[in-house]
Amino acid sequence: MRPSFRQFSAAADAQTKTPLNPAPEKPGANSGEMPTINHDMVHFKTSTNPHPLNIAKVSNESQFMDRHVPHPIWTESELQALKITHHEFQGMGDRLAYMAVKFARTCFDTFSLYRFGKITPNKVLNRAIFLETVAGCPGMAGGMLRHLRSLRRMDHDHGWIHTLLEEAENERMHLLTFIKLKQPDLYFRTWVVIAQGVFMNAFTLAYMINPHFCHRFVGYLEEEAVHTYTSIIDHIDNGDLHEWGTKTPAPQIAIDYWRMPPDANLRDLFLNVKADEANHRDVNHTFASLPSRNAEASYLFDAQGKPLPPKATS
Ligand SMILES: [Fe+2]
Ligand SMILES: [Fe+2]
Repeated sequence: MRPSFRQFSAAADAQTKTPLNPAPEKPGANSGEMPTINHDMVHFKTSTNPHPLNIAKVSNESQFMDRHVPHPIWTESELQALKITHHEFQGMGDRLAYMAVKFARTCFDTFSLYRFGKITPNKVLNRAIFLETVAGCPGMAGGMLRHLRSLRRMDHDHGWIHTLLEEAENERMHLLTFIKLKQPDLYFRTWVVIAQGVFMNAFTLAYMINPHFCHRFVGYLEEEAVHTYTSIIDHIDNGDLHEWGTKTPAPQIAIDYWRMPPDANLRDLFLNVKADEANHRDVNHTFASLPSRNAEASYLFDAQGKPLPPKATS
């Protein structure tokens, strides 16, 4: 029987490291037996996973790397140099966006009970998983609307779409990493569906009306995400999350995605996620500060989506 997509994509991590692909146990042809699948971060053309349609594999992984959605791979010095920053208000719109983020955070911290009691791995994962399901929406909404706008106007997009879609993909990878550490129950999943329905529609509508405000809102939201992941790392360092730290290995999907060392642990993982959130913060504040939605953005970011330093003006 032909294996379903779900069976492939949800397969367990293998105990392997980059560049992946140890040969799995291969069942006999038409045996009906499920093959061992590494995980869904490996391109099917380079993976040693048997393909159900017997499509030929290639040995050179590099020729497929440019088909992945590009994303930053952080160096050790970049991770160590991460800073908590805050964009100063430049008008009433910025102040309103900031107040909206603070209000949303206070409500979420209260109703999720995150602010009460002792920090635990379960509380951290509940928060991270839920918020990453929401964080993957703005980039997709913005990228989709700009894509449609480009089609309608039959004109270039000026370099925004790919950066926004890269952000959405990056947040989804945060989510796929965290669910390796905890599987949410039905009650939790129901709230995720409700939150996505409300937030995605509201954000899409808001982006159609005022994209500048939306990027500033996401910029401030990402400032809060940087605060959250900084505090989680601090909790790991001071022993509040003693179940984690140097003992718990990062999931293989995270090691492959961020190209981390094979012995990377959960602290390393949270540091990379924090770096991504800081990048989203800077990208969205950059978009919000551009003079118009027709401003050329492609020179603002490098091939991995990191904001480039401002050009010196003479
Ligand atoms: Fe995230
Ligand atoms: Fe983010």
